[in-house]
Amino acid sequence: MKKLVLSIAIVVLASCGGKKEEEPFGKKQVEPVSVTEEAATVNPMLEKGKKLFEGKGTCTACHKPATKVIGPSLKEISKIYKDKNASIVTFLKGEGEPIVDPSQFEVMKANFAITKNMTDEELQALEAYVMSF
Ligand code: HEC
Repeated sequence: MKKLVLSIAIVVLASCGGKKEEEPFGKKQVEPVSVTEEAATVNPMLEKGKKLFEGKGTCTACHKPATKVIGPSLKEISKIYKDKNASIVTFLKGEGEPIVDPSQFEVMKANFAITKNMTDEELQALEAYVMSF
């Protein structure tokens, strides 16, 4: 009889120990979602613009959201274009004047080789993306 009780105890202990339930709360980190990412799920143009900006356009090489790298930050560009009610599409077609940093225009101008080959829709997507900052 003693032996039986002991073996039952072992079985119970073993089955308890082996099954460690995953913690229901805590642990799981919620990623902070930026305003732009949230907006991108609402407006497909922004999603498209982001892809072009980071991909085919290679714009991220020189433009970051909030800091000036080689080119002005997207926040700065967006602010100035809103203030002056100017069109990024026109600028990227090579038909506008630089209004953000004309002294560095030559560096930006080289990219018109890429943007001039984009469709109007692609340029509008890029504009929407930049203006979302
Ligand atoms: C080689 C670096 C470089 C790359 C790549 C680049 N830019 Fe620029 N960009 C600049 C510099 C430098 C300026 C500042 C000169 C100026 O204002 O024209 C600028 C300025 C701008 C401006 C403001 C223009 C104005 O009115 O003054 C816009 C809009 C812009 N870039 C968009 C883009 C987009 C969209 C792309 C990708 C297709 C891109 N840039 C890729 C360097 C770059």
